[in-house]
Amino acid sequence: MFLALVGFLLALLVAQTTGQIFGLRRRNLKQREKLFSELGVEDASKKKIVGFFHPYCNAGGGGERVLWAAISATQGKEPDIISVVYSGDTDTTKEKIIDKVKARFDIVLSPKSLHFVFLESRHLVEDSTWPRFTLLGQSLGSMYLVWEAMSILIPDLFIDTMGYAFTFPVVSLLGNIPIGAYVHYPTISTTMVSRVKSRAAGHTNSATISSSNVLSTGKLLYYRIFMYYYAYSLRQARFIMVNSSWTKGHVDSILQYSDKFLDTIHLLPPLVLLEVLSRRRSECLKEAQIVYPSCDTRQMAALPLEGRERVILSIAQFRPEKDHQAQLRAFHALLEKYPEYRGSGPDAVQLVLVGGSRNVGDATRVENLRLLARELDIQEQVRFVVNASFPDMLGWLARASIGLGTMVDEHFGINIVEFMAAGAIVVAHASGGPLLDIVVPLDGEPTGYHATSSGTFAEAFRTVLTLSPEADIAMRTRARTWAVRKFSAEEFERGWDESGWRKWL
Ligand SMILES: *[C@@H]1O[C@H](CO)[C@@H](O)[C@H](O)[C@H]1NC(C)=O
Ligand SMILES: *[C@@H]1O[C@H](CO)[C@@H](O)[C@H](O)[C@H]1NC(C)=O
Repeated sequence: MFLALVGFLLALLVAQTTGQIFGLRRRNLKQREKLFSELGVEDASKKKIVGFFHPYCNAGGGGERVLWAAISATQGKEPDIISVVYSGDTDTTKEKIIDKVKARFDIVLSPKSLHFVFLESRHLVEDSTWPRFTLLGQSLGSMYLVWEAMSILIPDLFIDTMGYAFTFPVVSLLGNIPIGAYVHYPTISTTMVSRVKSRAAGHTNSATISSSNVLSTGKLLYYRIFMYYYAYSLRQARFIMVNSSWTKGHVDSILQYSDKFLDTIHLLPPLVLLEVLSRRRSECLKEAQIVYPSCDTRQMAALPLEGRERVILSIAQFRPEKDHQAQLRAFHALLEKYPEYRGSGPDAVQLVLVGGSRNVGDATRVENLRLLARELDIQEQVRFVVNASFPDMLGWLARASIGLGTMVDEHFGINIVEFMAAGAIVVAHASGGPLLDIVVPLDGEPTGYHATSSGTFAEAFRTVLTLSPEADIAMRTRARTWAVRKFSAEEFERGWDESGWRKWL
C-alpha cells in the first residue's frame, strides 16, 4: 500500500513539476474558454467555476438531494458562478439530469450556469471492481478518477459531495485550488481502528502467536495506514460540512488523528515530500460544521393535529437493527402497568408497525414478531402493515398520537423527522440522531421524549397519553414547527452559505 501510494504520489509530483510539458493548466484555460462560450457567457472575466465532485450524481438518493440543493442555492444567489458537476453518468445528458432532479426532488436547476463533465473511469470506484481491499482500491480509484476530471477541467473551487477524500491531495497538486467537502459518512472511523487495536493489544501478551493474531496485526496496520492517509487527505480541505452530529463527531476526531509511529516515518525521504506538499498543521482545519440536509415534509406538515387516536405508530423497514422486538416489549410493559389500556374500549391503545419487508429475512422477522406478540399476549392490539403504500403511511401518520423509534445509535432517523412534521409525539431511543439532532428542545420546551428500556418507553407512552388537551396540542405544534424549520430547504441554504465557501473563491 505504501509503495502504491508513494509511487502514485511521486508520479503526481513529476506531473506537477513537468506541468508545462503536461500543459494541464494551460490546456485548462482553453477548456474554460470553451465552456464559457458553450454556455453563452458574456463577461467571462467575472466568472468563477465551482466544481462538485459527485460521480453518482444521477442516483436520486439523499446525497444527491444535498448536491442539487447546494447547486440550486448557488444559482439563486451567485449569478457569476458556474457550477460544474463531475459525474460518471455517461449514459445520460445534462437535460435529462435536470428533468430528473425536477421530478425527483422538485428542485429547479438552470441550464445556463450548470455544466457536466462526464468521466469514463467511474468503474474504478465501484466496490465490484475491488473484491479485496475495497477501501484501498476505491480510494486509489478515486484518485485516478479525479485526475481524469482535472485533466478535462480545473475549477476555481473543488467541493467533494460524495466522500472521496483521497481526491483532495490530487486536486491540490494538479490544480492548486482550494478544496471543500460535504461529508455524509466517514470512509473509515477512529472507532474501527480502535476496535481492531484493542483486540490486538489484548493478545500481545499471549505466549503463542496465533495465526489470527498475525491477521489482526496485519489488519490493524492496514487500518492504521489507511486512517493516517485519510486524515492527511481530509486536512487538505479548507472547509468541511457534515450532515449530522454523529458524522461531526467522527470527522472531528479524524481531523485530530495522529499516529506517532507513522509521523516519524514521514520524516524520512521520500515520504517527507508529503509533509512538504501538505498544508501546514497549524493552518489545518480543526472542526467540521453541521449543515443538516433538508427533508421533504410538506405532505406530513399538512396533516391535522387534532383528533388523534390512541395509536402508537412505528415506521421502519423490518430490518434487525430497527429493533421491533423492543417495541413489542415496551408496549407489553405499558399494558402490564396500566391495564386500562387493554381491550377494545375507548381507552384501549393500539400499536401499529408499518414497514417494508424487502426479502425472506425481513419476512421471517415479521413472522417472529407476530409470534412474540402472541407470546406476550398483546396480539389483539398489535397490527402489522407490511409494504404499506405512501398514502396508507400518510393515513397512519394522520391518526397516530405517538411516533415510536427504538433503534439504538441511529445516525439520523428521517422517520423521526416525519413523525414530528406529521404531529405525532415522538418517543425514541435516547441515542444517535434522535437524541442529538432531532428530538431536542425548542425554546427550552421539549419536542418529544427519549427512553432506553421497556419500562422507560412505557412511562413515556403514559406521559403522552395523559397530557392535558392543551399540553398535547402545544407539544404537537412545537414538534412540527421545529422539524419543518430545522430540516427545511431554507435552513440548509443558510447553513451552506455560512460554511464560508465563498471566501475561497
Ligand atoms: C447522513 O448520511 C448518512 C449516510 O448516507 C445517512 O445514513 C444519514 O441518515 C445522513 N444524515 C442526515 C441528517 O441525513
Ligand atoms: C413486500 O415487497 C417485497 C418487495 O417489494 C416483496 O418481495 C414481498 O413479498 C412483499 N411482502 C408483502 C407481505 O407484501
